[in-house]
Formats: sequence, structure tokens, C-alpha cells
Amino acid sequence: MKFFIDTANLAQIKEANDLGVLDGVTTNPSLMAKEGIKGEANILKHYETICELVDGPISAEVLSTEFNAIVEEGKKLAAIHPNIVVKVPMIKDGIKALKWFTDNGIKTNCTLVFSAGQAILAAKAGATFVSPFIGRIDDSNWDGVELIAQIAQIYSIQGFKTEILAASIRSPLHIIKCAEAGADICTCPLDSILGLLKHPLTDIGLAKFLEDAKKM
Ligand code: G3P
Repeated sequence: MKFFIDTANLAQIKEANDLGVLDGVTTNPSLMAKEGIKGEANILKHYETICELVDGPISAEVLSTEFNAIVEEGKKLAAIHPNIVVKVPMIKDGIKALKWFTDNGIKTNCTLVFSAGQAILAAKAGATFVSPFIGRIDDSNWDGVELIAQIAQIYSIQGFKTEILAASIRSPLHIIKCAEAGADICTCPLDSILGLLKHPLTDIGLAKFLEDAKKM
């Protein structure tokens, strides 16, 4: 399973990348706004900077919701760098645009996916990645990890090539459960990635080894 970081924060992207286990980056308009990135030129520049930091797929989300506008915006984003993946919302015009991007060799990430039916449509349109938002599903009293397992089963039976990118990850346990459920990628906040490191017995064991090493 690949690890993407889900942020537009450059310091966090660098920290995750320095670990050596980062495969890509996802952003969304909320994450860009959180970093205070405003105006088209600054937005495009920020994506370019991320592409220079991380050698892997970098999702950049369109803000348009109408087919022609999505295509024009996506073309502009894709022109920033070969690693840019155009992130498109799961709406009717989004599906049409996904198909257009697929036919024109532009990689895509279908976002805001909350059901198996939506995941089937994204795959039919040739999306490179599909992003089920598991944390938000949990928030609404459904089981987000179950959706990952269901999509993984469907894609396997049907031979769909779209990669399952589990998004809206809220904890290290989400990452583990998504790995078990068959996600191809987890896109995570830095805290959830670093949370995988933690175990009190590791800390206790290391303290003991270092103490005993003084007697060596
Ligand atoms: O990748 C989608 C993700 O950023 C949404 O996460 O925590 O806002 O549900 P969250």
C-alpha cells in the first residue's frame, strides 16, 4: 500500500518526505485555504513547489463544476508538471470530464466518493484514483472501512484498474484497517502517519537497551 500525505502544508510535506516512505500528495480547496494560498497564480505556484518536493502523484483539485470549465481548468493544472493528477468531484459533469481526461492521457483522482456505485462510475470513466472519504462516512454513522473493502472486491471481480485511494483518514488505525481492506493508497494527515510509529513497549525497550549499553 502506498502512502500519500493529505495536506498543502510544505513543512509537513517535507517532514513526511524525509521519512522516505512518502509516495505522493493530495490537496483539496479546504487544505489550500488553510495554508492561506489565494489567487490563481499563487495556487499554481504552490502545486509546482509541491511537485518539486515530492516525486510522485500530486492531486490538484478543480474548482469548476461544469464540463467545459473542468476540462479547461484540468488542462491548466496538468500543464504544471507531469506528476499532477487532476482531482475532479463525483458529479455528472465530473464523470464526463474524467472520461475526457482519460481519453487525453491526463491522470485523475475522483474525489468526494461515498458509495460503491460512485466508485463503479469513477472506474468506468477511467479515473486513475478513486477517493472514498472514510472518516466522513464514519462521522455519519456508517463504516468507511467497509466501503473500502466493498470497492476493493468489486474492482477485483470486475478487473477495474482504478486505484483505491482511501481519504479522510483520521487515525493510524484507519491506515491499518484500510491496508487490511485492500486500499491501494492511504492519503493521511502527518499525525496519522507518525502515529504508526508509536508503541509504549518500543519506548520502554529502547530506554532499557540504552541504559544497558552504558554497561557494555
Ligand atoms: O482527502 C480528503 C480529505 O482531506 C478529507 O478529510 O478530514 O476533511 O474529512 P476530512
